[in-house]
Amino acid sequence: MEVVIVPDAKAGGELIAQGIADLLRRKPDALLGVATGSTPLPVYEALARKVRAGEADASRARIAQLDEYVGLPAGHPESYRSVVLREVVEPLGLSPDAFMGPDGSAQDVQGACEAYDAALAEAGGVDLQLLGIGTDGHIGFNEPCSSLVSRTRIKTLTQQTRVDNARFFDGDIAQVPHHVITQGIGTILEARHLVLLATGEGKAEAVAATVEGPVAALVPASALQLHPHATVVVDEAAASKLK
Ligand code: F6R
Repeated sequence: MEVVIVPDAKAGGELIAQGIADLLRRKPDALLGVATGSTPLPVYEALARKVRAGEADASRARIAQLDEYVGLPAGHPESYRSVVLREVVEPLGLSPDAFMGPDGSAQDVQGACEAYDAALAEAGGVDLQLLGIGTDGHIGFNEPCSSLVSRTRIKTLTQQTRVDNARFFDGDIAQVPHHVITQGIGTILEARHLVLLATGEGKAEAVAATVEGPVAALVPASALQLHPHATVVVDEAAASKLK
């Protein structure tokens, strides 16, 4: 695992966007796995800036979603499908056809999960998976105690994660769904390159446990230690509890 400490979130975004631009030069139709939440926004902004400036060509890129709320009505602005279309697909000038994600409104949720794993494999696998990290060490929505070999499946959000995410729902925790579909840790580990970005002091403990603690289901992100090509990009605040 490679750990890169950058001064701030903007620098982290710039660094990762440059890595994605380089990947797209080598493989123009790369499948990019994207996370939602606040952390990756500087990456998406920097990448879109590079595309507009002609410094990156994302015209053939393909985008794969990491996770999705279960039960939000189609088109809900906070469904992760809506978020990824708004924050990644549109700013990069891509068609919605370039985008794939699990169906959070399926009647047969288990079937939707299996179909998504199959679709990822059919698409050739994820080339670069961008990850954030929860304050409890989750990646995707694999909360503590998730199996390190799990596949895409339905999970229940912890109270802490629902509290953390209430800010996207007018601060009203009652509106935050209880369930999500998430790529499993085993699914995530199949991506060819994992890039985890963590910024802010609130992530410092989770980062230290991920990088310096034992590989343990209690800290799902520690599974990155098992991956042959994992990069952890942290700002100084998120790095503050590293030894
Ligand atoms: C979202 C996701 C989550 C977030 C994590 C951190 O798709 O996979 O694991 O990355 O909850 O969220 P932020 O970045 O909002 O602190």
